[in-house]
Amino acid sequence: MPVLGLPWWKKGVIYQIAVPSFADSDGDGMGDLRGIIDRLDYLNDGTSSSLGVDAVWLTPVNASPMRDFGYDVSDYREINPRFGSMRDFEELLDACHRRDMKVIMDMVLNHTSSEHPWFVESRSSRDNPRRDWYVWRDGRAQGKPPNRWLAVVEGSAWEYDATTRQYYYHAFLPFQPDLNWRNPQVREEMLGVAGFWLDKGVDGFRLDLINFLYEDELLRDNPRRFGLRPYDWQRHLYDRSRPESLEAARELRRLTDRYPDRAMMGEVYTDDPRDAVAYLGGGDDALHLSFYLDFAERKWKAEAFRDSVGWLEAHLPPWGWPCYYLNNHDLPRSYTRLGRGGDAEARAKVAAAMLLTLRGTPIIYYGEEIGMPASRVPRKRMDDPIGRKFWPLPVGRDGSRTPMQWNGEKNAGFTSGEPRLPVDLSCGDRNVERQDGDPGSLLNWYRSLIRLRGEKPALRAGSYRALAGTPKGVFAYLREAGEERIAVFLNFTAREVTLPGLEVVPERGVWRRLISTLGGDGDGVDLQRVRLRPDEALVLERA
Ligand code: BGC
Repeated sequence: MPVLGLPWWKKGVIYQIAVPSFADSDGDGMGDLRGIIDRLDYLNDGTSSSLGVDAVWLTPVNASPMRDFGYDVSDYREINPRFGSMRDFEELLDACHRRDMKVIMDMVLNHTSSEHPWFVESRSSRDNPRRDWYVWRDGRAQGKPPNRWLAVVEGSAWEYDATTRQYYYHAFLPFQPDLNWRNPQVREEMLGVAGFWLDKGVDGFRLDLINFLYEDELLRDNPRRFGLRPYDWQRHLYDRSRPESLEAARELRRLTDRYPDRAMMGEVYTDDPRDAVAYLGGGDDALHLSFYLDFAERKWKAEAFRDSVGWLEAHLPPWGWPCYYLNNHDLPRSYTRLGRGGDAEARAKVAAAMLLTLRGTPIIYYGEEIGMPASRVPRKRMDDPIGRKFWPLPVGRDGSRTPMQWNGEKNAGFTSGEPRLPVDLSCGDRNVERQDGDPGSLLNWYRSLIRLRGEKPALRAGSYRALAGTPKGVFAYLREAGEERIAVFLNFTAREVTLPGLEVVPERGVWRRLISTLGGDGDGVDLQRVRLRPDEALVLERA
């Protein structure tokens, strides 16, 4: 079967763990590495009673003052003591490997924390040897930053530093100064950091803001354009997706290729999906996987998802492989976002069926499998700088970072102490323990889908073809590998829908129900008369 030849990052399911929020082993209210070790059985214990994921992606675990959830690193070769020690990390790595699970580390290569000793030195004087490790420039006039580039979050991307009377560049928040990748020492150091963790045995990296590493050397201003939020009022021609950043991705790939079976997935922050495709390089020479926001930002419409998938399928190069997710630590949780205005539970099941039967690597975000909703975190408990800055606008990210809901006990079984963010009110009802014992739960639905994916080469490795002629509100596609044919029908509406006679394959044949949100597994189905019940996800296989 073709699937046998697939590398793990193509055939596996990735589970994203927000380390501060997953499991706290020592009662300080902060999730930690030992907490994850204790919960590995939940993720994969080799039997069908666990989730059955193949890899974990850990949000940043490097030393950090944690002013942005760890995306502000102060030492790339150390583990954040709030999460544990290097020995804990090695133990986690080892424990995952013994279960045949891979570990993907988040790598923040674009910027450091302003508390990183490199930056402390860099800002101390204009002639400090580390001055050029960051991007320093004179203002273009008194009180005016060097150019008009904007920070993703807000305002100018340049911050004035009174000590040396120059500006430094930060694509994100002011306490996250951008490293100067044009300095060969910086490049060498950061490649060294990647090598350090590869030597330790990590299986891959999630590369934060990979298309932001370089900016235009001449600091040319971006052309103006119309957009919804101030950052979008510019076409980001000169401050992101520069050719040199792709070159850096290639260099990282050359390094990674020196180790067996490793992979890099990159966050390509862009509104142009072609940028993300570009990061797959010219043929197995850049990132293994790249992702961008499009799929995760679609509204609850069959056509919207079909278009997103269709675009990617049409534009991927032959060596390219899709990667899909509905949630991450930056987005409002899909249970609420997609469920609004309908039956959230039923929609979450349809969404999961889509995520886990499309062609491409699926990423599940912790808590998604039990339908954790978008939480409302009161202002005084907020941790995310964006949430605090823009309050009361609901743009903060804490709502998708609340403690994992393990059981209905105090603090949802996340910690014995005071949790860093309040536990969501849904925890009594929506938690792992409760859903574990309920065959119809969302958790068991995820487990069944992951198991099915593991059993069916067509789902993991097969081709993808959207079925034409489906009625409005239905997304349907065919997955094929060798003789195996699987058809997936997703009803995005709350109405019953009857599909017209579908010419799915030239030869007819009997189709068998593999799984459905509404039960009835194993029944035979006539493809000329498929009937979808409201909010139903139905997966069929040609017998
Ligand atoms: C991460 C964010 C982070 C930002 C700055 C990203 O895109 O996903 O959580 O705040 O980069 O590092």
